[in-house]
Amino acid sequence: MSTTGFDLVVVSNRLPVDMQQDASGAISWTRSPGGLVTALDPIMKGAEGAWVGWSGAPDFAPEPFDADGTFLVPVPLSEGEIQRYYEGFSNDTLWPLYHDVITPPAYHRTWWDSYRAVNERFAEAAVAQAAEGATIWVHDYQLQLVPALIRQLRPDVRIGYFHHIPFPPFELFQQLPWRRQVIDGLLGADVVGFQRRSDATNFMNCVRRLTAVKPRTNIFSVHSDNGARRLVKAAAFPISIDSHSFDRLAHTDAVKKRAEEIRSDLGDPDVIMLGVDRLDYTKGIRHRIKAYGEILEDGRIDAASTTLIQVASPSRENVKAYRDLRQQVEILVGRINGEYGEIGHSTIHYLHHSYPQDEMAALYLAADVMLVTSLRDGMNLVAKEYVAARHDLGGALVLSEFTGAADELGGAILVNPHDIDGMKDAIVHAANMPSAEARRRMRRLRRKVMHDDVNKWAHNFLASLEDIGQRNEHNGAYAPTVTSAAEPVPAGSTAGGAS
Ligand code: G6P
Repeated sequence: MSTTGFDLVVVSNRLPVDMQQDASGAISWTRSPGGLVTALDPIMKGAEGAWVGWSGAPDFAPEPFDADGTFLVPVPLSEGEIQRYYEGFSNDTLWPLYHDVITPPAYHRTWWDSYRAVNERFAEAAVAQAAEGATIWVHDYQLQLVPALIRQLRPDVRIGYFHHIPFPPFELFQQLPWRRQVIDGLLGADVVGFQRRSDATNFMNCVRRLTAVKPRTNIFSVHSDNGARRLVKAAAFPISIDSHSFDRLAHTDAVKKRAEEIRSDLGDPDVIMLGVDRLDYTKGIRHRIKAYGEILEDGRIDAASTTLIQVASPSRENVKAYRDLRQQVEILVGRINGEYGEIGHSTIHYLHHSYPQDEMAALYLAADVMLVTSLRDGMNLVAKEYVAARHDLGGALVLSEFTGAADELGGAILVNPHDIDGMKDAIVHAANMPSAEARRRMRRLRRKVMHDDVNKWAHNFLASLEDIGQRNEHNGAYAPTVTSAAEPVPAGSTAGGAS
């Protein structure tokens, strides 16, 4: 580590590594797969970067260490904090609230207290690593208070925040008893990035309704403590994947061979359909399987020559809504397999596991139809991975309108997952798509995904932050944020309703 601190500090709930412990208790770390790590890797190394985040285990925060050129700084979370800050406020309050209240959010004051305390810890850990005038880039809904907390501690740094999930309309956000604190937290950043323009618009609308700041364009000013005005930019930066490395992986002989093996292991069906999701109620897994079951029942596709592979990776299993979903999905899969399966052929292969990237690439290459049917999704990177893997221009993508990816991926067959009949038609169309149409669509999809990769995303965000940062420095505006003296309370306010 440099004695003066790092020029770039990334802050996210989880560190970009997975911890393993062998039988002797020895600990090792492997880099987690995923675009964010890959995208930031060269930037972090070039900029003397540090990454601040949780190890993933309770009460476990070893000394900071160097991993592959990035300095990793573990932040401890106790068992109680995992329950209240992570499983509770992050994943049982904010997650459902920000995903169209698909399940009801729970509002508990003890969860909020823990969220605030943990956000303070992350902010302190981040500033401890930052050099004078450094850039600190905060990620996602678990850490929305961190931008303003950092600004209070260190008015000299540039602060970016990127929101990976949807940002809700005011009419839903309004439910949150701590709505004003969350907006103030985010306004501590110079640039607040979202997946879609509609998320940025929703955010600005919440700023307008809840504070004295009235943004008229997506660059607007807030008061600084030193009396100057500081610019804040709210804009869309749709995230992507490391498309080229995915494409290269799907070109390897090992992956191509594995794709053939998967097909033959399944008994060489005419059509392989694929769903790949964290087992999350936002993903529309039940809607998809219901539609698939009805298509079999209607006889529009032949159960004997069709297979649906559903990879559902385990997620947030201590949260009740996730346990309930698992049960519902497994009952549904069991029912359809019972009805349409034969000895030696299941019509749904349900896999409650996570797989390494090369296996995923092989599954994508083997799948004739990819089903992404989220009820709400910030972006959905699985859709982009599927496209990046299909260098053969094969396969068809059925994609929910309720994903950020739908704004970008014009070549997909767009569906409304609530409209089961419409989704059935789209799935049947995808399964029978003439190859000329499939190739035309995939070519169009690939043009987009290969061009706009995660590297470009990170550069765009950081360039925007540099621009706003320079303008703020020039105006002498770097000081703690105070947005207004009083909160205009909208009609029908629910503030104070926490239990
Ligand atoms: C979403 C969120 C991420 C989160 C991931 C996995 O993609 O945007 O912030 O890390 O889900 O969820 P988990 O709760 O396991 O970190």
